[in-house]
Amino acid sequence: MDRTGRRPPVEPRTRRNRDADWNAWPVADYLAENYRRLHPCDVGVIRHHSAVYRRHAPGSLARTLELGAGPNLYPLMLAGAAASRVDALEPSAASVRYLRHQLAHGADASWRPFYTLCRSLDPALPASCAEALSRVRVVRGTADDLVPGRYDLASMNFVAESVTEDFEEFSALCAAFVGAVRPGGRLLASFMERMPSYRIGTGPVWPACPVDGATLRGVFAPRTAGLRIVRLAKDLTLPEYGDTGVLLLSARRPPAHG
Ligand SMILES: C[S@@+](CC[C@H](N)C(=O)[O-])C[C@H]1O[C@@H](n2cnc3c(N)ncnc32)[C@H](O)[C@@H]1O
Repeated sequence: MDRTGRRPPVEPRTRRNRDADWNAWPVADYLAENYRRLHPCDVGVIRHHSAVYRRHAPGSLARTLELGAGPNLYPLMLAGAAASRVDALEPSAASVRYLRHQLAHGADASWRPFYTLCRSLDPALPASCAEALSRVRVVRGTADDLVPGRYDLASMNFVAESVTEDFEEFSALCAAFVGAVRPGGRLLASFMERMPSYRIGTGPVWPACPVDGATLRGVFAPRTAGLRIVRLAKDLTLPEYGDTGVLLLSARRPPAHG
């Protein structure tokens, strides 16, 4: 209470990554809303990423990373031609369970059109999706567990901006992502543009940090070389998440000097 006897307004608290229960990520609802069919924005992400993977001979990337893999299989499929080993790093028990089940027992039929598109854009992918996914190891952990310089390529889709409301934490997660590749290593990422904290189905609100192209340039330009950011129009076939589109990023970690 202040001297007038009125209760001062409660400042909404910035929700940080640790404030959300990632173990309770609603896998079934998330898949239903986003990945049970191929949406135009998935086509855009797959085209963008496969153009980068196509530049690498099959098996030539010894180890790649999918940071915050969630239950999304298509970034893992895309890596399957160029990479000998793909680490799918994910903190959520629910998503880890889903990924491990998909790898052990075969991908759900709804992933077939995704693999058909990936392979049509990158004919170096094996005929079977199961073979492409056989390179994947699911690793339970967060961006804090990344070993600097371990990977030849790192990919991150809808993670840094979708897991915290805190801009400093968003930037730190992006910095850890860049640092995970060796000097000269490649980076591929997608971000929801200007998305505020969001709900999946009727579940709780998940923390997000609205970003645009200028934000990404500010965070990535000082840490990378050859930075390219392209924008996809808002996907009206998805639920209303409050975003204004998708931003696709490619870059390299600068080579070491001397
Ligand atoms: C919006 S989902 C995106 C999932 C998936 N990458 C996709 O393309 O659909 C955000 C993911 O980031 C994961 N995550 C949350 N905090 C994380 C952290 N600190 N480090 C790495 N991943 C995190 C969540 O568990 C969730 O799987």
